[in-house]
Amino acid sequence: MANFTQERVLDVHHWTDTLFSFTTTRDPSFRFRNGEFTMMGLALGEKPLLRAYSVASANYEENLEFFSIKVADGPLTSRLQHLRTGDNVIVGRKATGTLVIDNLKDGRNLYLIGTGTGLAPFLSVIKDPATYERFEKVVLLHGCRRVAELAYGELITERLPKDDLIGEMVRNQLIYFPTVTRDPFRNRGRITDLITSGKLFSEIALPTLDPAHDRVMICGSPALLADTKQLLLDQHFVEGNHGEAGDFVVEKAFAER
Ligand code: A2P
Repeated sequence: MANFTQERVLDVHHWTDTLFSFTTTRDPSFRFRNGEFTMMGLALGEKPLLRAYSVASANYEENLEFFSIKVADGPLTSRLQHLRTGDNVIVGRKATGTLVIDNLKDGRNLYLIGTGTGLAPFLSVIKDPATYERFEKVVLLHGCRRVAELAYGELITERLPKDDLIGEMVRNQLIYFPTVTRDPFRNRGRITDLITSGKLFSEIALPTLDPAHDRVMICGSPALLADTKQLLLDQHFVEGNHGEAGDFVVEKAFAER
């Protein structure tokens, strides 16, 4: 267990019967870049039960936050969903991942495309002052089936704009665009369709996607990743990774199926 630290659960929030978030203590030695993930889970007997989880808190925050689905027969999340304040989880000492702004070339506007718990790494990215220093506008797209699944809306629209550190940047540069596919809502439709039809750009009053200016990060289900990636490749966007910065980067949201 030398590669892990034991952390105490500070707070648990259930969004729906399939989604919840929790915060934990953070080991002072745990370092990560905003957008990265780490291994997290429970120390059950000899062998810890772990999954990759994006860190939803920013790297300058005192505590860690995680955003998870609940799967009734999921080995980890069926247990994790019963976490209470004071319980312990184990957290990896190392973090990694592709959804970091260093993996993107300079550009004008940054699009963060997340579906479901794929929002998590972007919560960290939108709290990072460096994100606003590198990009003029930061467009956060969150796609869900149901309105109730649009977690963190209040944080994004109410609390972050008033934040001492990043409030002004958020007010001037962040555009939040939540959309749902299976409920009535002010924004409806799949993110891919909203991009292809151009409806997104008329709604947010920005030019349509252009690899000369725009950068994209994508996090969601394998189907969302495949379709969004193809859409970008068709428009001559180049994928980036740790070795080489590109026009877009991709990571699967870590869900138990
Ligand atoms: P839809 O309701 O039309 O499937 P999921 O919970 O399955 O990960 O889906 C989260 C959101 O992402 C839903 O709004 C869903 O729309 C949408 N979605 C699922 N697959 C794709 C895809 N291949 N391209 C774009 N959006 C997708």
